[in-house]
Amino acid sequence: MCGIVGYIGKRDVAPLLLEGLQRLEYRGYDSAGIVVNNPKSPALKVVKAKGRVRELESRVPKRFAGTTGIAHTRWATHGAPSDINSHPHLDADNKVAVVHNGIVDNAAELRAKLESEGVVFVSETDTEVIVHLIARSQADTLEEKVREAVKAIEGTYGIAVMHADYADRIVVARNGSPVVLGIGEKEMFVASDVAALVAHTRQVVTLDDGEMATLKADDFRTYTTSGATTTATPETVEWEAASYDMGGHDTYMHKEISEQPDAVDRVLRGRIDDRFNTVHLGGLNLDPREARGIRRVKILGCGTSYHAGLIGAGLIESMARIPADAEPASEFRYRNPVVDPDTLYIAVSQSGETYDVLAAVQELKRKGARVLGVVNVVGSAIAREADGGVYVHAGPEVCVVSTKCFTNTVVAFALLAVHLGRIRDLSVTDGKRIIEGLRKLPAQIQEILEGEEDIKKLAAEYAEAKSMMFIGRVRGYPVALEASLKLKEISYIHAEAYPASELKHGPLALIEPAMPTVAIVPDDDLLEKNRAALEEIKARSGRILAVAHREQEKADHTILVPKNEDELDPILMGIPLQLLAYHTALALGRDIDKPRNLAKSVTVE
Ligand code: F6R
Repeated sequence: MCGIVGYIGKRDVAPLLLEGLQRLEYRGYDSAGIVVNNPKSPALKVVKAKGRVRELESRVPKRFAGTTGIAHTRWATHGAPSDINSHPHLDADNKVAVVHNGIVDNAAELRAKLESEGVVFVSETDTEVIVHLIARSQADTLEEKVREAVKAIEGTYGIAVMHADYADRIVVARNGSPVVLGIGEKEMFVASDVAALVAHTRQVVTLDDGEMATLKADDFRTYTTSGATTTATPETVEWEAASYDMGGHDTYMHKEISEQPDAVDRVLRGRIDDRFNTVHLGGLNLDPREARGIRRVKILGCGTSYHAGLIGAGLIESMARIPADAEPASEFRYRNPVVDPDTLYIAVSQSGETYDVLAAVQELKRKGARVLGVVNVVGSAIAREADGGVYVHAGPEVCVVSTKCFTNTVVAFALLAVHLGRIRDLSVTDGKRIIEGLRKLPAQIQEILEGEEDIKKLAAEYAEAKSMMFIGRVRGYPVALEASLKLKEISYIHAEAYPASELKHGPLALIEPAMPTVAIVPDDDLLEKNRAALEEIKARSGRILAVAHREQEKADHTILVPKNEDELDPILMGIPLQLLAYHTALALGRDIDKPRNLAKSVTVE
């Protein structure tokens, strides 16, 4: 949510920053801007544009020389997308420039104060207060000026600051929004995430909350907002630049759906112990005695990660026999939950940055709870805040909507469930059975992907619907929830998900030929119950698309998926529905990787 990127070195900065913005565009794409130093004049040069980065690119003049610059791609919070509200924001003299990811909670108050002192604001953004605070500071150094400004603001920020009078440096600060430094050879980078850096350097330093840094071409230093020096040792990013490319696919979503066999293989690799029919998870920090003492598991996440958590809760409850449930992290925090010392809390997040999840983790830690993370981005805020956890190793996910990370997160939960289960009640035989099932997943996912052409044909048919219903029972219900979210996010077709058992308690009133239903119908102990729901829908002339292990007589169409163990079937049943959403959106001509109004990594509340 909002991407910032900056560079200081010897190269021509504008092309580097524009390329960085392209890579960060998934974080926000309603406007963009760039500022570079102007070696021949004391003022900075700025270009901003409402719209995508390509719009900005078309406005950047050929002669836009500079070797230091910062840039931004925006997802609007304060002030509608417009040229003026785009970042960077500058003071009236074009000396101070700021790009910001986050929200200044006390912006209105600070703005009123600055206006009473004669400052004229040009934008409606909260960020502009930071610019004026820095520009008006009487402190002797840029670092001091920025420090004074961040001390005055409440809220979240990842900021990068340039000042024409301090042309040899960029100063950055972080609180709640990610800031990563890229360490090069006589050049330094800064960005909201490594996507913008890996093409140039894989040596990175991730700032902590309350940390700042000064970047010069051949040097960097980090310190706290109180001025105390901190030690920052660069780490090597595991993901390669090529993994951020489209790799021959038309969209990132398609690429990421197709990558799932490999991604699942990766999350399993090195974790299965055939000798004891169990799973080893190196980063869990939970010894067997502690694992035995867990009385409840509470999983917290948002959106798709919450849906993965719902399936995860089912897996833990059925295999480890620990009562488990999942809840949206955003809701959990505000109901003053009872935090129980015997409960294991698990925070789920692809990005590891989602503010609502991070804030829930921080609240739990403050109350003394043990929190694990199930996270994709290594070293992200949630991963660092948690007491331990499981990385899901899905690789970079660039499409705004999550696909491969959902699948890998559920597989990670299955691994955790086997691990906890084998410490507790899961028998050797069941441990072996699930492990064998897990090993079959990559090939079975591949088999489903090979049916893409058939799913495409179905999508063309269902794309005409104005609204769709998704149903499933118990394990199938989170699959329905996730499939309905995927469809609405990228196709903008309204969709609802219900437990199939709830149909007769209300939603059946919606069923008619114009409202098709997608039904999750696994061959498990609920098969007959699920079939009864299909009967109810058919009796009301509803159209049905079933995802099942065998043809469903009542369905108008059935997408067949290979059978795995009952516990693992939800993983496979979600895959064709990702393709259904994809091809429906494609048939409707939607911007699949960047759906309207959304952004990846929601770092604001
Ligand atoms: C939907 C989607 C979102 C995210 C949610 C949480 O396709 O991607 O619902 O799942 O914003 O994001 P993470 O997992 O990064 O915490």
